[in-house]
Amino acid sequence: MGPLNRLVGALREASHCVALTGAGISAEVGIPTFRGSGGLWERHRPEELATPEAFWRDPEKVWRWYAWRQELVFSRGPGPAHTYLARLEEAGYVKAVITQNVDGLHILAGSRNVVELHGSIRRVRCTRCGHREELAGPVREVPPRCARCGGLLRPDVVWFGEELPRDALSRALEETEKSDLFLVIGTSGAVYPAAALPALAARRGAVVVEINPEETPITRIASMVFRAPAGEVLRAVYEELS
Ligand code: OAD
Repeated sequence: MGPLNRLVGALREASHCVALTGAGISAEVGIPTFRGSGGLWERHRPEELATPEAFWRDPEKVWRWYAWRQELVFSRGPGPAHTYLARLEEAGYVKAVITQNVDGLHILAGSRNVVELHGSIRRVRCTRCGHREELAGPVREVPPRCARCGGLLRPDVVWFGEELPRDALSRALEETEKSDLFLVIGTSGAVYPAAALPALAARRGAVVVEINPEETPITRIASMVFRAPAGEVLRAVYEELS
């Protein structure tokens, strides 16, 4: 049996398949990943842009970078990988998507049970009154101010050194513990606690599958590995199943 048929068979048999996704799943629509060649962290230092300390030191600088990323994200739609993952959920094969991405593309693609572990770049939060607001497009002024209290707004994302939203983390743990098939798609497995989820799933007896053109720390616990772009693999899987 070929590797694709093995995955198709596993999806048919699974009672609770969960996908964990990272920046690689959005790479195909032109949103750069963080690590690897051409990655954002090659050109920028995370501690200067993605920490609370960096924000309070220079909110304008941090916001310029986020405004640039918002321009990028708001101008892109879901790619094939987001779309086929949503279709796999609609067809009942995938039960949940846990994502480290802040681009909102899984939700736009039609995935329903989405856990956004690192928040959303499409939302802002007031650092003074806590008010949250969904944006229709990139922020216009930098740094933006709260319409309610005039406080400084921040992107509603998780920065290094911050805790993950409690509700998202507990939902992610719950889905992982329930899973018997765990797809790890487009993540380097470098950032915790998300990177711990595949091992947790494996300990609970789930079959771990990696879809990533590069080797990662997840590879050694994966029973099936696809060294190809996510969109290609998910399209082939979906077509085989339907
Ligand atoms: P990374 O940039 O660390 O890893 C992206 C992964 O996607 C790499 O392993 C690539 O090999 C893989 N990849 C690239 N193109 C792909 C494709 N077409 N199909 C499948 N895989 C592909 O991104 P994450 O693991 O998501 O956190 O990074 C985790 C966190 O680190 C992010 O959420 C962000 C970042 O710093 C915060 O900002 C808190």
